[in-house]
Amino acid sequence: MIEENDFNYAAVDKIYENWKTQKGALIPMLQEIQHEFGYLPRPALEHLARRLRTPISQIYGVCTFYSQFHLKPRGEHIIRVCQGTACHVRGIAKIAMRLEEELEVEVGDTTEDMLFTYESVACVGCCGLAPVMMVDEATYGRLTPDRVPDILNEYQRGEGNDS
Ligand code: FES
Repeated sequence: MIEENDFNYAAVDKIYENWKTQKGALIPMLQEIQHEFGYLPRPALEHLARRLRTPISQIYGVCTFYSQFHLKPRGEHIIRVCQGTACHVRGIAKIAMRLEEELEVEVGDTTEDMLFTYESVACVGCCGLAPVMMVDEATYGRLTPDRVPDILNEYQRGEGNDS
């Protein structure tokens, strides 16, 4: 997490200056801040609130409403485990359990080495392959718990693919 003392306020100022004359610019400002830092650090949101003369609660309200915004740092790879009906019926719970054991994280968390963020999502649109998980843009279907460590290893070795 980025702390206030070593925070790059100039980057937030620049984004604010670029957008300040435009109405309804809060979302693009937040998108640019997230692009800059990889997530929305608290000092950035507090600084933006001061510049906009807007209550911080209002800014947090927007950040938490839209799933595109992240208030915590995220890992290099995003793992999304499908919780849709087809995957549920075909045993995604066992996949999720194995994943949690291997990564030692719970849903919504990022591994200590910042390599993986683990999320659960609704149907990812390939129910015929259930149970399914995605790593970044790659889809892994007809999963069994035993395949989970091999898939993670690919990314730990820097060999993860987009197939
Ligand atoms: S329910 Fe998992 S892909 Fe549709």
